[in-house]
Amino acid sequence: MASLKVNRRLIMTPGPVAVDPRVSQAMSNSILGQFDPDFTDLMNETMELIRKSFKTQNKWAYPIDGTSRAGIEAVISSIVSKGDKVLVPVIGRFGHLLIELIERAGGEVHTITAPMGQIIPQEDIIKEMDKVQPKVLAIIHGETSSGRSQPIDQLGKAAKERGAFTVVDAVATYMGQDIPVDEWELDAVIGGAQKCLSVPSGITPITYNDRFSEEINKRKRVEEGIRTTEDGTNDSNFITSNYLDLTQLEGYWSERRLNHHTEATVNVYGLYESLKLAIDEGVEQRARRHSYHHQALKEALTAMGLDIFGDQDYEMQMVVCVDIPEGMQDTEFRGELLQRFGIEIAGTFGEVAGKIWRIGTMGYVAEKHNIMNFISTFGVFLQAKGAKNIDASAGLKALMEFYDKNEL
Ligand SMILES: Cc1ncc(COP(=O)(O)O)c(C=O)c1O
Repeated sequence: MASLKVNRRLIMTPGPVAVDPRVSQAMSNSILGQFDPDFTDLMNETMELIRKSFKTQNKWAYPIDGTSRAGIEAVISSIVSKGDKVLVPVIGRFGHLLIELIERAGGEVHTITAPMGQIIPQEDIIKEMDKVQPKVLAIIHGETSSGRSQPIDQLGKAAKERGAFTVVDAVATYMGQDIPVDEWELDAVIGGAQKCLSVPSGITPITYNDRFSEEINKRKRVEEGIRTTEDGTNDSNFITSNYLDLTQLEGYWSERRLNHHTEATVNVYGLYESLKLAIDEGVEQRARRHSYHHQALKEALTAMGLDIFGDQDYEMQMVVCVDIPEGMQDTEFRGELLQRFGIEIAGTFGEVAGKIWRIGTMGYVAEKHNIMNFISTFGVFLQAKGAKNIDASAGLKALMEFYDKNEL
């Protein structure tokens, strides 16, 4: 049998994306046991880096083993119990994922919606909170399916004043846009690994405040076999998930070092190294880099003759959405772009599936030479496939001009 051969790709999607070789190298280190003092030191340092990444003083800032939805599910299933009202603003596919997870946790979902490509004004969400009086407001910060960045900076305070908790999915914007958790008074926030942070999928940084921790600990149950008499038994209203129970995970990610699960130590190496690189770059500088390349790509695509999709005042700074040009078939074009050139772009879901493409500039990929190479190939290939009103060289010229005129 032949040994593994993986072809090189230029991944211009909203994740997963390429990983910095320093992260891959970190992940090739020897295995440590999950209670080895070398590893528990690394856990503490990783928690500190997660705090910095979210600009928070929260005690609780640690990763969940599993892809981003594991982080979201852990937060939702720990805070939502049977019959709890949860308000979910929906502007795309990932709002529906929140609904799914809340329903599975037994919550009563209330929604407020906007068509894909739009956001919901914060005043409208606050008015809806007054009407519904939810226990939790669960919201997506970067709705990857439509490329919109939902404003949330007023919602934490408003929810708190109404006795509600905020849960924010910042999976796609984390480390690509600034998310000052304490300043925005957000209770629980979930970041993503395989996007702007550029770590292989499988680990998810989260943070939450003491108010949130106190609430979830009302439903704490430590499993038999590792529970102490102080833990009690709690046979009634306990958190129903075991693996994604934040209260038991607090036991592992603290001095107690509760023997709950076998930590994915190698993923923590990768997370640590990527966070170190991100914090060394600087949270604001990293956000600036994403906006800079986002703008460059957008200007090039527009000059090439493509129409930008959605409300341009609320774009995620790491995804450009364009209307698929006349005469092009979504999956066929993307398939050929991948097969012939090793370049991947994304389609989408729901009401605009087959109508738009999403082109991502996330984390390690958000570099000038990647975008120059992408635009050169993408424009010429579109023209070669007979897309109408496309001028490939105008796109490349606009991109070169942008980079010549604008400093990062
Ligand atoms: C906004 C958002 N939330 C949640 C998810 C789910 O993440 P995962 O596929 O890592 O479980 C994604 C993935 O693309 C996302 O973009």
